[in-house]
Amino acid sequence: MSSEQEIFDKCGRTYNAGDTIFREGDLGNEMYIIQSGRVKITKQLKDGVEKTLVILGPGDFFGEMAVIDKDVRSANASAMDASRLIALDEEVFEMHMQTNPKIVKKILKNLTSRLREANQQIANLMIKDANRLVANTILLVVHKHGQEGPNGITMDINFTVQELSKMCGLDFPKTQEIVDKLIKAKVVSLSGETIIVTSLDNLEKFIKFLEMKEQFGE
Ligand code: CMP
Repeated sequence: MSSEQEIFDKCGRTYNAGDTIFREGDLGNEMYIIQSGRVKITKQLKDGVEKTLVILGPGDFFGEMAVIDKDVRSANASAMDASRLIALDEEVFEMHMQTNPKIVKKILKNLTSRLREANQQIANLMIKDANRLVANTILLVVHKHGQEGPNGITMDINFTVQELSKMCGLDFPKTQEIVDKLIKAKVVSLSGETIIVTSLDNLEKFIKFLEMKEQFGE
């Protein structure tokens, strides 16, 4: 039996698409490493809107915060696809932290880039103009998940208008209305429900245009 299979037999968890792994406010004493599938981390906003903080994939970990600071879960985690996770309890996690500097470095690196992203998201959410918020969020997604293809930039996540609305914390109809404008401006196109960025240049110009409009008025 491979050692990966042995680890999975001991600490593995399987989830179906849409399953809740844990909810914000739950007590938790395990962190998870994603072996396969994708996991969405979300937070409930005041008005019932759910905001996606991040989408994680194989090799990523989550749930370490409650283990480190012994507080409750800071966000919801749910499986986006059929997923296999490795669960590490507090004891195993502490043992790795004390004996494996590579793991400590990986966690620090990950927390640092998460903080960087959170700072970007704070700056993004300060944007009052919904058009610029949506366009800027698409730009952040392109930088993190984009890959150039023959028809434009596609994302390695399921990047639908629904998903975009959750990232922006806007309702679906408003987000769709803005995406329609971006389609007209030849910034994005839809392939089924998936958003493709047809021109990064147009996206950047669109954002610049909105910034100037905000600065100098109509
Ligand atoms: P924990 O608080 O235990 O449970 C929720 C998990 O979501 C948290 O640990 C982190 O692993 C992860 N998480 C929380 N906030 C963010 C964020 N802003 N970006 C990425 N991951 C996050």
